[in-house]
Amino acid sequence: MHLSKEQNTKVEELLSQMTLEEKIGQMNQESPSIVGGFDVPFEELIEMMTDGRISAEEFQNMMSAAERDFHENDIRAGKVGSLLLDDPGKSNELQRIAVEESRLGIPLIIGFDVIHGYRSVYPIAIAEACSFDEVLFEETARIAAEESRAYGINWNFAPMIDVARDARWGRVSEGPGEDPCLASAFARAKVRGLQDDSADSYVAACLKHYVAYGACEAGRDYNTTSMSISQLHNVYLPPFKAAAEEGAATAMASFNDLNGVPCTVNSYTLRIILKDTYGLEGFVVSDANGIKECVTHGIAEDDADAGIQAVKAGLDMDMGTHIYKEYLKDAVSAGKVSADVIDDAVRRILSVKMWLGLFENPYVPEETMAKYQDILPKKHVEKVREAAEKSIVLLKNENQTLPLKRSQKISLVGCLAADKNEVCGAWAMGWKEADCVSILDGLKGAGADVVYYPCGGPVGDISEEEIQKASADCDVIVAVVGELTNMTGEASSKANIKMPGKQRKMLEKLLESGKPVIAVLMNGRPLALGWEDEHLPAILECWHLGIQMGNAVAAVLLGDKNPEGKLSSSFPYANGQCPVYYNHPNTGRPGSRSKFTSRYLDAPFEALYPFGYGLSYTTFEYQELKAEETEDSVKAAVTVKNTGTVDGRECVQLYMQDVAAGLVRPVKELKAFQKIFLPAGTEKKIELELKKQDMGYYDNDGIYRLEDGMFRIYAGGNSRDCLCEELRIEF
Ligand code: GLC
Repeated sequence: MHLSKEQNTKVEELLSQMTLEEKIGQMNQESPSIVGGFDVPFEELIEMMTDGRISAEEFQNMMSAAERDFHENDIRAGKVGSLLLDDPGKSNELQRIAVEESRLGIPLIIGFDVIHGYRSVYPIAIAEACSFDEVLFEETARIAAEESRAYGINWNFAPMIDVARDARWGRVSEGPGEDPCLASAFARAKVRGLQDDSADSYVAACLKHYVAYGACEAGRDYNTTSMSISQLHNVYLPPFKAAAEEGAATAMASFNDLNGVPCTVNSYTLRIILKDTYGLEGFVVSDANGIKECVTHGIAEDDADAGIQAVKAGLDMDMGTHIYKEYLKDAVSAGKVSADVIDDAVRRILSVKMWLGLFENPYVPEETMAKYQDILPKKHVEKVREAAEKSIVLLKNENQTLPLKRSQKISLVGCLAADKNEVCGAWAMGWKEADCVSILDGLKGAGADVVYYPCGGPVGDISEEEIQKASADCDVIVAVVGELTNMTGEASSKANIKMPGKQRKMLEKLLESGKPVIAVLMNGRPLALGWEDEHLPAILECWHLGIQMGNAVAAVLLGDKNPEGKLSSSFPYANGQCPVYYNHPNTGRPGSRSKFTSRYLDAPFEALYPFGYGLSYTTFEYQELKAEETEDSVKAAVTVKNTGTVDGRECVQLYMQDVAAGLVRPVKELKAFQKIFLPAGTEKKIELELKKQDMGYYDNDGIYRLEDGMFRIYAGGNSRDCLCEELRIEF
């Protein structure tokens, strides 16, 4: 986001004309369909209706009452600065009131959760990150921005860039995995794609959830987070730093308390780090109900106190609680909040609206609205299909079980295989069933000889009879197993991350047929796959890939596409290993087979499948790693050979270890990666560069340290199996 001198002048002029009420109005976000300010959090109302504590009619009455709370007069009076809405007709209608009927005609900024596409839904972030493809990350974000604008949305509550290492947390599905370097590349690319103001449709990005939400204790959503300052700066802040430096317009404060201070009222993270150090020029919005929850956290005595703490800490916009609207005026009059604090918040909000061009073009043109009402543009569908194909990770493939031949008779098993409504995953809100391709659709469309047998799924019973039929008349069984969408995403933490329901039993019975059983996973988190890895000949991780899932999975299963994904998150053997991640400290007794080391008595200590891991239908060999120091970098050269019979793409990964430092450092840290295409039987020398400036770490005072000493440079196709070179570096 960049404003011209004229735009900045306009912002100042406007600010100087505003009354205190109008300024506070800009800091208030309403959601016309889901109005905040319920006594009971909205999500709980949904739960109460779902489990029958309130009837649907009572719920509806509460909703319409809440909607009545949301008066258009508030917009007319300049008391609303933003809407949470994805309805182009309604947003034009309400925007017209703001622009043509309020005193200063300040347009509304309209935000919505477009996390991985609006109608052209692409893979959930944990999956797309497995492509390790920065160009793709940017291209899919650009499609999301284009479609968002057509639906009246000019602000995406995305990218979600929470580093997460604990698969018990349901929101691992929404973010780019466990590694700060990959997450930072993802974050930068998403901001570029969403905020490309050279395009005719761009939106404001929103970096979330700021910060360290993914470190919630025990993987339980909304739970407390506590960590050293060095951990915060070395692991959880990097994607936000990268994205803020890329010019992100906004950020969203996270629900969690960090070292005892909720992120909604945390001036260290909001003001000192995000605004003063990283230079965020736009504004920070709370998460839903976030300000009100500071009372529950126990950091504020009441709503007014929470509001005062939040605005002083640098929280500029209130999502849905009305606390700013109700209490800030009195707080300023009582001298509890300075006018400068209000002006800073409002200046930031006006700046984003100015940069978005909302003062010149506040409405969604009719022709734009019509653009996506029925058939999606071919280029969008093709791009999200490409993203789906590149996000698939081949985890196991014994005896070349895969790819399948079209001559093979396939029994396709599992109700997920035919369910179009399960392909998009969590936080996908604008897709239409007609656009979605199930795995069954995809296999049929690709000309496979396939018969479908539901047999069972993530919930409910399995059918012995169906299993028998499926096992009888086929050459190979493809079992689609995993999680329902509602088992992933927000408020979906799980203590047990084995294969849900009776799917493992279904797999066992299918194996009794003696036929090869291939597991195709549809899931939103790493699952504990120890049993599956031990018993199945092939496992394909397919996540929730979006509207083109079926075509992508079919192309890989049938060998039309060679899988190229590499895991963005480690998979455990067993639940009890969580959190499990590759960039861990060595400890004084690294895990091994001997007893007195960092291990378990009843499970392996390392990951089943580590970060960066993924197989191909071909094989790649790494040879001749050379690492040399230059003036300001370390240059690593490695030769990669395609030693198989199939062309393929490989992600060459460069890791570093600071062998002895002022603080214990991880055994490996990803520092660079590059995808290459290698025809069968060919080889290529790849050079990756690691800037010396990036070889340091933050200490517990938040100071960045570059220390002379021994470093190990690793290169390989995953974080475990690497070539290694040592060199001493003087900075
Ligand atoms: C939710 C989520 C956040 C989302 C917001 C608005 O609670 O935590 O990611 O953007 O509310 O829907």
